[in-house]
Amino acid sequence: MVPGRPHGSGRAAIVVDDLASTNPWHPRAIEERGTAEATWQDTVSRASERQRRAVEELDIQPGDRVLELGCGHGVAASLVCDKLGPGGHLTAIDRSPKMIEAASSRNAEHVAAGRATFLCTTFEEANFGDQRFDKVFGIHFPPADRHDPAGTRARVRQLLAINGIVRWF
Ligand SMILES: C[S@@+](CC[C@H](N)C(=O)[O-])C[C@H]1O[C@@H](n2cnc3c(N)ncnc32)[C@H](O)[C@@H]1O
Repeated sequence: MVPGRPHGSGRAAIVVDDLASTNPWHPRAIEERGTAEATWQDTVSRASERQRRAVEELDIQPGDRVLELGCGHGVAASLVCDKLGPGGHLTAIDRSPKMIEAASSRNAEHVAAGRATFLCTTFEEANFGDQRFDKVFGIHFPPADRHDPAGTRARVRQLLAINGIVRWF
């Protein structure tokens, strides 16, 4: 059984809930010890080398409008938001309610400051209205990696602002 993965049987879902007492990154555990402590230290220690490298490579500028696809727990989202300034904004989506709950909790300060929005939706069903983004990225995002690379990449291009860029990690 993979800890933290609520897929499969009902038993797995119960195990996920139980993890709140043993897993410091479980959304409820984070909530219980407070978002202030949970933010920077948790982000630094949880960020994988790939996530850190990805955000470095994105070269986020303070005013960037950024879209992250398949944000998971919101670890890379935190690193992005820390680089944003006035006018900058991150929209992050994930199809999993649990992931969006965890990402929103981890980034509560950024959400409250109006720097970040976390949406529970599939990319295929997402409606971004007339928003256009300077930087769009995904880290291990299955639709771009393997489910529908051509369709996903074509759709992403339509969301780009002038001089906008896309990066897959
Ligand atoms: C392998 S995880 C990577 C999570 C995160 N990017 C990271 O690096 O830790 C893939 C994530 O993409 C989400 N996902 C998969 N297909 C999706 C889709 N069609 N639309 C939105 N999110 C999706 C999953 O729920 C999962 O959280």
